[in-house]
Amino acid sequence: MAHSSPNAASSGTFTIGGDLAVHRLGFGAMRITGKGIWGPPADHDEAIRTLKRLPELGVNFIDTSDAYGPDVSEWLIKEALHPYPKGLVIATKGGLTRSGPDIWKPVGRPEYLLQQVHKSLRNLGVEQIDLWQLHRIDPKVPADEQFEAVRSFIDQGLVRHAGLSEVSVEEIKAASKFFDVATVQNRYNLVDRTSEAVLDYCTAQNVGFIPWFPLAAGDLAKPGSILDTMATEYGAHPGQIALAWVLKRSKVMLPIPGTSKVAHLEQNVAAAGITLSDEDFAALDAEGRKAFQAAP
Ligand SMILES: NC(=O)c1ccc[n+]([C@@H]2O[C@H](COP(=O)([O-])OP(=O)(O)OC[C@H]3O[C@@H](n4cnc5c(N)ncnc54)[C@H](OP(=O)(O)O)[C@@H]3O)[C@@H](O)[C@H]2O)c1
Repeated sequence: MAHSSPNAASSGTFTIGGDLAVHRLGFGAMRITGKGIWGPPADHDEAIRTLKRLPELGVNFIDTSDAYGPDVSEWLIKEALHPYPKGLVIATKGGLTRSGPDIWKPVGRPEYLLQQVHKSLRNLGVEQIDLWQLHRIDPKVPADEQFEAVRSFIDQGLVRHAGLSEVSVEEIKAASKFFDVATVQNRYNLVDRTSEAVLDYCTAQNVGFIPWFPLAAGDLAKPGSILDTMATEYGAHPGQIALAWVLKRSKVMLPIPGTSKVAHLEQNVAAAGITLSDEDFAALDAEGRKAFQAAP
């Protein structure tokens, strides 16, 4: 049964980079922008209300990026929450450029990455970014140059911890020669298991794993599926069961479901209070893998 008073604390804690403790269920701030993740949100006031609700619900880990809007997501976070409550950890990213709605192109030249770090510092109104993630490794620029740049951001104190996004185990190992990889953010959910090996590596190394698109459950979210049956059993919504499953999958898992609406946020945070039995976890796991293998 879902917790009567939702609080992200029920998801447990994970310490990013050995010194930033967060409740594992966080918030993804990509959806508080316009269509195509471009420009301002359709409902500015509801986006602000959603952000202001985060501390009240115990959410102290927010994921954003300079590319969301672009800039809009970081501006709204500052507008709603600055001066920031103690213990709030804001993770941002850089390395993807935006030239129109739904267009994302990597640029990994060190001078560009540095410019974006400075822009995020200003956008968020902070002196140091808690966690800065290289949004994509740019294939047009030697990877070592990009990792060296990240190292320099840490050395200069612009960034406290650094992470990667959409990477393989080999790329994590390569980057680790330059800086301590605190987190990895790859697409992952019940029915998208492409990053299973990366997740296992992060679990073994105690590196935070931030699954994006955690709510997607495809056909399993439709009426009559195993997710639907379990939702009824636990008195929950199918999306909450999908989140509870992700949380139980690994102790380093830091899901960041994204929404622009207070009601959806409250529903997502309530998933932190749902503990699946080992048997139900295993049954969902098997169905999820089957759906993933059958996917085109
Ligand atoms: N590293 C990367 O490359 C990358 C890529 C994509 C995203 N991300 C990060 O990951 C976060 C999560 O990814 P995501 O936003 O793509 O996927 P998601 O969290 O799985 O799904 C978000 C979508 O589900 C809807 N939703 C959320 N809660 C709901 C609820 N309780 N009931 C019904 N609908 C609900 C949202 O719409 P409403 O606004 O209507 O609620 C939104 O359209 C992003 O916010 C971003 O921070 C990272």
